[in-house]
Amino acid sequence: MKHSWWQEAVVYQIYPRSFMDSNNDGIGDLPGIICRLDYLKELGIDVIWMSPIYQSPNDDNGYDISNYQAIMEEFGTMEDFEHLLEAAHARGIRIVMDLVVNHTSDEHAWFVESRRGGECNPYGDYYIWRDPKEDGSAPNNWGSCFGGSAWEYDEGRKQYYLHLFSKKQPDLNWENPRVRDAVFNMMTWWCEKGIDGFRMDVISMISKTEEMPDGKIQGFYGDFGPYCIHGPKVHDYLQEMNERVLSRYDLMTVGETPGVTPEEACRYAGNHAHELNMVFQFEHVDVPGKYGKWNDEKMPLTVLKKILSRWQTELYGRAWNSLFWDNHDQPRAVSRFGNDKPQYRTKSAKMLATCLHMLQGTPYIYQGEELGMTNYPFESPADFRDIESIHAYKEWCESGKVPHEAFWPCITAVSRDNARTPMQWDDTKNAGFTLGKPWIFVNPNYREINAKAQLVDPDSVFHYYQKLISLRKQHPVIVYGGYQLLLPESEEIFAYIRELEGEMLLVVCSFVEQEMEFTVPEEFAGAQCLITNCGLQQDFNTAGAVRLGAYEAFVLHKKL
Ligand code: GLC
Ligand code: CA
Repeated sequence: MKHSWWQEAVVYQIYPRSFMDSNNDGIGDLPGIICRLDYLKELGIDVIWMSPIYQSPNDDNGYDISNYQAIMEEFGTMEDFEHLLEAAHARGIRIVMDLVVNHTSDEHAWFVESRRGGECNPYGDYYIWRDPKEDGSAPNNWGSCFGGSAWEYDEGRKQYYLHLFSKKQPDLNWENPRVRDAVFNMMTWWCEKGIDGFRMDVISMISKTEEMPDGKIQGFYGDFGPYCIHGPKVHDYLQEMNERVLSRYDLMTVGETPGVTPEEACRYAGNHAHELNMVFQFEHVDVPGKYGKWNDEKMPLTVLKKILSRWQTELYGRAWNSLFWDNHDQPRAVSRFGNDKPQYRTKSAKMLATCLHMLQGTPYIYQGEELGMTNYPFESPADFRDIESIHAYKEWCESGKVPHEAFWPCITAVSRDNARTPMQWDDTKNAGFTLGKPWIFVNPNYREINAKAQLVDPDSVFHYYQKLISLRKQHPVIVYGGYQLLLPESEEIFAYIRELEGEMLLVVCSFVEQEMEFTVPEEFAGAQCLITNCGLQQDFNTAGAVRLGAYEAFVLHKKL
């Protein structure tokens, strides 16, 4: 396989609303990002993926776009964007845009027109419209991802439109060649501006089956999954997109593909697929529980390892992995997979970083993860800002279906707002994010956890990430090596070997508080320790059995 820059890159995700506020209106913005580029340069990342910055009424924080070729006023202007792109490029950092084309906002001009209907309306068929059932009810029982029916009745057209997300996010009709033309033209416009790629929002959902029967009841509504995920024409559409846009530029593309299996991933992003460079899979972060996705249970380590190992081996030589613990839709990694108690937070954040960054694929860091930022201590439903959490609380709790006491630990464990609290820059008011009133609460632990403190501490989580990133640049085995899991039955230790042309890595990570013992395999006798979260000195003894402290991690390197 030909090596590409995006295989060797480390990506940093910015959620602009929560990153840095430059004008003190409480909302992060583009000039704010510009003034923090040197911070990212110091971290050593190569690519920024920016969550949507387009014009939007913000029903879903920018994932509901009303104009793809304008910048959200709160975030700045197109000129600011151009400055950002230029300033990033000047530092050798590329910019990948979020592309949300499964749906638009209901305030997008296309939808405003579409809803007027009429025989000759060129936009009439831009969205997915269906007649009501005879009794006037929705065409089928599908539920939307944010609660309620996936159908909304429009008084004007006397029809229902499909929205797999909120009713302010109507799904585009990709069957319509004019929709595809419009999307591809818009993408080309951004490519001509000089952007470096796209992260494609729920791209696995753009093709729907022609028949739309009721789905199997899941929670309160029918499941649209079998009819809308990896639908009949999704690969045709992506091949067309690749041919008409992507293949004409030097881009990095990553598809958000809920429900993807390794087999399906090879169809989207196989070496010979002519669709995308890689996809995000979600098996390791999906732990369905009593209340759908709302769940405070931890995935057993054996299961987590099995999932990640399967992706490592099944894509090897066939497709490219994307590696992540968290993003703007997930709780904070250290709270979910590590231990965010003060005595273990730093150690377990470094352990998780080791575990992920030594895997094969392109690693993604979500803003604040490099500081070990934690989940937010929610006190009441009034703390929520996210449409998904707000609706879920209503649907499950306020409705009387589940008592608050039972539901509360589950929703707070995985609410998307955990990831969306402001970036913690320093120990001044509002963590240095804004002098105004932040749009969402700041995590009170910013006095201990912040970038300023970590930049001057050589032993900080920040510097640990910096080191992992630089190791990836020095050792091709980290990027391209094969993978082999050790101790698959252990519920405490995640250990694996990487190997490439006589170069070997041993990665050992303890996921538990208690002390453990680990036997370093024979072939690593005399190996060098590349990195460890046990202090700065690397006087690791590599002979036979070693003691592992709480959340300890180390990496041994050997060249034959
Ligand atoms: C994706 C985004 C999420 C958004 C949804 C609808 O899953 O990551 O934030 O709410 O799509 O656009
Ligand atoms: Ca602002």
